[in-house]
Amino acid sequence: MRREQKRERILTGDRVTGKLHLGHYVGSLKNRVMLQEEYDPYFILADVQALTTHFEQPELVRQHVREVALDYLAAGIDPDLSTIFIQSLVPEIAELTVYYSMFVTVNSLRHNPTVKSEAADRGYDDLYYGFLGYPVSQAADITFCKATLIPVGEDQIPHVEQTRRIVRRFNELYGTVFEEPKALVGEVPRLIGLDGKGKMSKSLGNAIQLDSSKSEVEAKLKKAVTDPARIHKHDPGHPEICPVFAYHEAFMPEESEEIREQCMQARIGCAECKQRIARRINDVLEPMRERRAYYEARPKQVEDILRSGTDQARRIAGETMQEVREAMRIDYFTGE
Ligand code: TRP
Repeated sequence: MRREQKRERILTGDRVTGKLHLGHYVGSLKNRVMLQEEYDPYFILADVQALTTHFEQPELVRQHVREVALDYLAAGIDPDLSTIFIQSLVPEIAELTVYYSMFVTVNSLRHNPTVKSEAADRGYDDLYYGFLGYPVSQAADITFCKATLIPVGEDQIPHVEQTRRIVRRFNELYGTVFEEPKALVGEVPRLIGLDGKGKMSKSLGNAIQLDSSKSEVEAKLKKAVTDPARIHKHDPGHPEICPVFAYHEAFMPEESEEIREQCMQARIGCAECKQRIARRINDVLEPMRERRAYYEARPKQVEDILRSGTDQARRIAGETMQEVREAMRIDYFTGE
């Protein structure tokens, strides 16, 4: 019943290569939790996409399907309002990917800025076919369920653009089946890492994971880099270059102006500033810890959620594929 009442379908998700952290929370998860009331959201556990870079570690991918599902549920994604599903178990996505790949050129993929920078980060020279093509597969993730709104971080915009081009071309070639989806980019920019060197990322070791304990959060913040020019408490600080201040802005916007002034006037020390934000982050994480503990104690329930989400995704996928096959004239045995 709930689904009929909702208008627009959302699809977004994550590569299941690592547990989610605070950067994911402020950049995307928090938004997803809010959106689930108003929309019909689908969340994809992108295990196939994870394999494009981690095909040598299938066990890691397998483990993170469950970990990321727990992160979603802990963050407040409600399985009664949202559909969480496993990419590989919706084979229609793979099927659509093959059809789309007929009319997507290799150059358009090579020039995709996100593919380019990921390839550079990983030191790829000769690109794997699956890796180069993952934006095509992502277009299939988005279109198999006819999602029109894609809440993502900025780095995903080229993929949504690529999806829009694929949709346009498909409709042009075979008749209108799909609507062009739109990216919905969160207001919060990428959260900086504890080392202040770049975005928060598990692989850079500068992240606070959502399943961190209270004392882990405190310990990590204690060690966080602050303004290097501020050695003594009476040195005025430069909040704009301080990662701890960035966390204040992200998690305590209502107090961040006051903190900024206190820091610049050397009226608050880094230790106290860190304790304050650690308390706030722990307040945010506490309900997640409770929900995580609930679901961790009920693996069967988590499995049921993923199973029924995946069944729901497959139902929709089946409907879409019928239209696609008809449009592409590959609907053979339709007679008596
Ligand atoms: N590429 C996304 C990431 O790296 C994950 C993803 C897979 C995705 N399929 C998607 C995001 C479809 C939005 C829509 O996090």
